Amino acid sequence: MSGSQPDHHRTLRHSLESIRSELREHGIYEWQIEADVLLRHVLGVARSDFLSLVYGGDSHLTHTQLHRLDASIKRRIGGEPLAYITGQREFYGLDLEVNESVLIPRQETELLVELVLDHLTSRDEGHGPPTVVDVGTGSGAVALAVAAHADNARVIGVEISPSALAVAMRNRDRLLGSCVEFVLGDLLTAIAAPVDVILSNPPYIPSGTLASLAVEVRREPTVALDGGVDGLDHFRRLATQAGERLAPGGVLIVEIMPEQMDAAVEIVRRTVISIASVSTRSDLMGNSRALVAQKELSPLP
Ligand SMILES: C[S@@+](CC[C@H](N)C(=O)[O-])C[C@H]1O[C@@H](n2cnc3c(N)ncnc32)[C@H](O)[C@@H]1O
Repeated sequence: MSGSQPDHHRTLRHSLESIRSELREHGIYEWQIEADVLLRHVLGVARSDFLSLVYGGDSHLTHTQLHRLDASIKRRIGGEPLAYITGQREFYGLDLEVNESVLIPRQETELLVELVLDHLTSRDEGHGPPTVVDVGTGSGAVALAVAAHADNARVIGVEISPSALAVAMRNRDRLLGSCVEFVLGDLLTAIAAPVDVILSNPPYIPSGTLASLAVEVRREPTVALDGGVDGLDHFRRLATQAGERLAPGGVLIVEIMPEQMDAAVEIVRRTVISIASVSTRSDLMGNSRALVAQKELSPLP
């Protein structure tokens, strides 16, 4: 039978039911939502049209779609994250391409975007266009979200992985044009002072706990997760480099785990020169998720 002819044995509704039970049987926690997403992905239809298509008639999957669906279900049951199978993840209203070269952007990381935008809004206009650097940009999620809402900012994303950087550049070209610069580099080594905002969601998982992460998380790049013995190796280097590059009044905004916050505040107090304040911010769940450190403003002439 040709690959594009329909399979008359099951309607879309039957297909959806069988995906749901297969995912549930294999212990996929969000089996219902994930089944919808997988079927929608294979059909290539918008969320708004999906339910009427499935429940409103007796449409069928073509054989090609059926094969793609079976392959996708096998990958998901095998532990691959849903976002790698669909190749997409929504972040701060942006529909990002993702693949196994990049961390899948997390909802809690949207807090970094909010904090950066709040800081830029409160900043004195007289200072000129601000420079914002996203360190470890991955898919470009945070850099692109900031650029989409702060037209006057010069936004730079730095990334050590060439394959991740390629994803970030494709996301930029497809979503925003060329308004964000992406640079291959090791933390801030390639970035010159002064920088107004340095933000980062660095790798911060303690090396010893990587093996106990959920199977889906272990499919994400180790370079995006492994933060050394206490998870703060990147943070320590970043704090030192940020101290040398932040403009007067500039801020360092970093996502880490709640249990790392006290140690991170101490590192900033010890390493960032001319620090005016260090505070922590919580995510929507009330967990302390971001550290914000501000440099002193220059003394008046
Ligand atoms: C936790 S992921 C964050 C990705 C993205 N910013 C996000 O929030 O979705 C950390 C990122 O830092 C990158 N990275 C790791 N070490 C780095 C280094 N020394 N310099 C620059 N980037 C680095 C990883 O490749 C990965 O993309």
